[in-house]
Amino acid sequence: MKFLQLFRLFAVPKLLQQAASLKLNVTAIGARDGLSTLECWQMDQPFDTSTTPGTSGSAQTQLGNVSTLSYSILPSAFDGGLHNAPKNQWVVFLSGLAYITVPGDDDTSSVFVTGGQFGLIFAADTSDVSKEGHRTQYPGITETVALQMPTSDGKVPKHDLVHNGPCSISEIAGLRTLTLPA
Ligand SMILES: *[C@@H]1O[C@H](CO)[C@@H](O)[C@H](O)[C@H]1NC(C)=O
Ligand SMILES: *[C@@H]1O[C@H](CO)[C@@H](O)[C@H](O)[C@H]1NC(C)=O
Repeated sequence: MKFLQLFRLFAVPKLLQQAASLKLNVTAIGARDGLSTLECWQMDQPFDTSTTPGTSGSAQTQLGNVSTLSYSILPSAFDGGLHNAPKNQWVVFLSGLAYITVPGDDDTSSVFVTGGQFGLIFAADTSDVSKEGHRTQYPGITETVALQMPTSDGKVPKHDLVHNGPCSISEIAGLRTLTLPA
């Protein structure tokens, strides 16, 4: 009890404490037995407290180095068709709506990803591990804007599999606890 009150008095230490234990969960497109899968991954690297001017004191996690950055604009109702991830890469949907499907017909085989704060995924179903890949459609009424960033070493960053199927909102919304106190 006393402990809790102390943390309340010192809001920033509370943030540090939470940041040190919280890890990022992301929906990933993986592969098993030659077929693409949707998976919920927890990244190994926990959040930390930034000491970089401009973000100092806020929560930050390192997702590793990336090689290039491409900016794509997908029109409303665009169908990307079946494809493999060209490389192991981060994809961030900045706006719009993506609908990703993999082989299978239960709730672990499709996901809607909305552009914005929770729009980060990792795509790892390259042609060496998945025969046909996954399908991405953009069913929103606006265009979808996405950034794609292959990892610089071509590898998949270290993570644990939380479960098969995409991460649920409650599994990614833990980020909300990292906001700075008013
Ligand atoms: C990213 O690249 C820098 C510079 O080459 C290197 O020092 C650092 O260890 C790399 N980080 C990771 C996570 O590989
Ligand atoms: C990631 O998932 C774990 C297990 O469900 C949860 O404890 C944690 O708070 C989640 N992290 C975030 C950033 O939401």
